[in-house]
Amino acid sequence: MTETIAIAADHGGYDLKCALLSELQALGLGVIDLGTNSRDSVDYPDFADAVARAVEDGRARWGLLICGTGIGMSMAANRHRGVRAALVHDGLTARLARQHNDANVLVLGGRILGPELAKDCVKIFFATPFEGGRHARRVAKFSPAKAQA
Ligand code: RB5
Repeated sequence: MTETIAIAADHGGYDLKCALLSELQALGLGVIDLGTNSRDSVDYPDFADAVARAVEDGRARWGLLICGTGIGMSMAANRHRGVRAALVHDGLTARLARQHNDANVLVLGGRILGPELAKDCVKIFFATPFEGGRHARRVAKFSPAKAQA
């Protein structure tokens, strides 16, 4: 069965999102593109929420988010239950985000990474399984934000 990925970017990630679309299709993923669709300025949390909701409610198995640095998108996406968004910079962090953290949303910085390095991150992220074991125990301890006593 084809796995589905929900993707979105803000204006800082729009060009990289366009550059990665064919890479995602080449990996055999069904792509749900949730915007943005131009370089006009937008608010990144709106797009992080759209992708995180798609992962949360099962419309997508995976997410990909791109803003200027990747920082804002990862902060916003990780507020959603069941979302494990990882800001990745290279092949090593792409691999470890899957092996150790079972990341289900890949986050990239469109003003940080060139397109070839970003393509490498995508390929490695989706080729790498979660290792489970002690890492599963740790990931199971992730919980929604708790009110401070
Ligand atoms: C937009 O200028 C920029 O703040 C945004 O793309 C991102 O880098 C936020 O974390």
